[in-house]
Amino acid sequence: MEGTAIGNAADFTAFPAAVTVGNHSYYLIRTSEGGFRLLSRICPHAGYEVEAEGGGFFCYAHGWAFDGESGKCLNAPRQLAAYEVEERDGTLFAQLP
Ligand code: FES
Repeated sequence: MEGTAIGNAADFTAFPAAVTVGNHSYYLIRTSEGGFRLLSRICPHAGYEVEAEGGGFFCYAHGWAFDGESGKCLNAPRQLAAYEVEERDGTLFAQLP
């Protein structure tokens, strides 16, 4: 697993953490298994940015809400794009397209 380096794990102390890679914005979250995951900030409805709110994510454009760990939409059968993250020697690597 290669992946894109997104930073040192120890530098992320509060979650969700905003992460930018190139022109793309993500939230780094902790999973219930103790791992990490990147969720796209781009709403799958019409492309506005979602905000972290109340333990999940919310899109103010049209009111869709998303689960804070899986990114699954609570209003429609959609979800925030999710990317696996692996920690190697203290550095986080994401499997980005
Ligand atoms: S763009 Fe997010 S709910 Fe419409």
